[in-house]
Amino acid sequence: IPVDPFDCVVFGATGDLALRKLMPALYHRWRDGQIPASSRIVGAARAALSADEYRAMAREKYQAFFPDDPIDEKTWKGFAERLAYCELDAGDAGSNWADLSALLDPASGKKRMFYFALPPSIYGDVAANIARAGLKTPQTAVVLEKPIGFDLASARAINDAVGRSFEERQVFRIDHYLGKETVQNLLILRFANAIFEPLWNANVIDHVQISVNESIGAGGRASYYDKSGALRDMVQNHLMQLLCLVAMEPPLELAADVVRDEKIKVLRALRPFTAATVKENSVRGQYRAGVIDGRPAPGYEEELGRKSDTETFVALKAHIDNWRWAGVPFYLRTGKRMSARRSDIVIQFKNVAHSIVGPEAGALHPVRLVIRLQPDEGVKLMLMTKDPGPGGMRLKYVPLNLSYAETFTRRYPDAYERLLMAVVRGDLALFMRRDEVEAAWAWVDDILQAWSDEAVKLYPYTAGSDGPAQSAMLLDRDGREWFDET
Ligand code: BG6
Repeated sequence: IPVDPFDCVVFGATGDLALRKLMPALYHRWRDGQIPASSRIVGAARAALSADEYRAMAREKYQAFFPDDPIDEKTWKGFAERLAYCELDAGDAGSNWADLSALLDPASGKKRMFYFALPPSIYGDVAANIARAGLKTPQTAVVLEKPIGFDLASARAINDAVGRSFEERQVFRIDHYLGKETVQNLLILRFANAIFEPLWNANVIDHVQISVNESIGAGGRASYYDKSGALRDMVQNHLMQLLCLVAMEPPLELAADVVRDEKIKVLRALRPFTAATVKENSVRGQYRAGVIDGRPAPGYEEELGRKSDTETFVALKAHIDNWRWAGVPFYLRTGKRMSARRSDIVIQFKNVAHSIVGPEAGALHPVRLVIRLQPDEGVKLMLMTKDPGPGGMRLKYVPLNLSYAETFTRRYPDAYERLLMAVVRGDLALFMRRDEVEAAWAWVDDILQAWSDEAVKLYPYTAGSDGPAQSAMLLDRDGREWFDET
């Protein structure tokens, strides 16, 4: 679907996010013919670069990050003609704002977006500088990367500061998980198929697991990551957004505030962690040296170069105290340097009320709906069947399997491609509203406080494993286990 012509300014244009995700996303949308020719893209950063030098940098990084997707010269030329560069310190009101202004289309009706790939502490200043420089038009959107703050208080301060220059309808807070194909499909799976909704509740569902496992470590980001940790870096945003999409009530339609109103109700129903409950319901871990895919992987402290108490793994047992989910635990887990990159949502249904076969038939497993977010995107319904053959009633646990790779042959856009185009369209449904971000921080703040009050231990785990043994025990205590189907 074509979008209206737009001007896009990327602050922090020489940074990792801009070069690894944003420029490639814009290039791909250009290549697919979605970006109108009269659009302009401006990279802005403090480095003294010419436009040609910046184009060369963007191209080189593209090739490094997408080695299997060679550049087509003609297409790149068209993209590069739309790509300009401005040397600018976005946090400084006295910087070259006039130069930036000169690169933008003065037509006030044209869509304009400013992408903040910058440290969140300066978001308020940058927003004010845009307004002060006269670059804010009614059609302007500001796009804020995560993390929005470090805790509830700092998130509020950032939201207040940005809110002094822009209305909420102009603020697009990115959680790139909301742009993932499989995450969007959660809404369709749940609400466009009549069979799920009647079963989607505490009467039938035993528990839910949400795992976002990564095989990469903190690596070069270790010094940034050390101030954050897995709870702030992954749970406060990505995992909580996934939880909202799984747990929310059916929205009447996909309009932004209708969906966001439903999500915020879930966040508000999350049971707070307290000093009394935190030890039993959470696990913190940090990776030590190990082996991943046959290659040695260093420990977190080795990467960081000093001792650290920051968690690179977290597992939580959460509860949503509302009518639909009373008594259904939501187990959340995320970690770096795990055995494999794998993100799944597992909806585990209750056991059958009574077994019609004896133990000689083999193990009877509960039905599980497994939504594989990445990689190998797909949806599986794990069911019991009769193992075919003459040997009597033998049970076999098999998947009804929808594999994206087998079913959909067309390339589908990456999360950032979809989200950038959603900004141009002005569709806020895939972005976090201020109250969502703050409600998520409020819940996470309680966990952080309880961790510190109770001096909750940090358990080591070997790189290439599935996290500390305590993570398995969190479920084992309840007679459950993580469903790690490979
Ligand atoms: C980011 C986190 O938000 O998400 C990173 O800051 C993490 O630490 C990344 O690696 C994971 O994203 P994806 O899309 O690779 O699952």
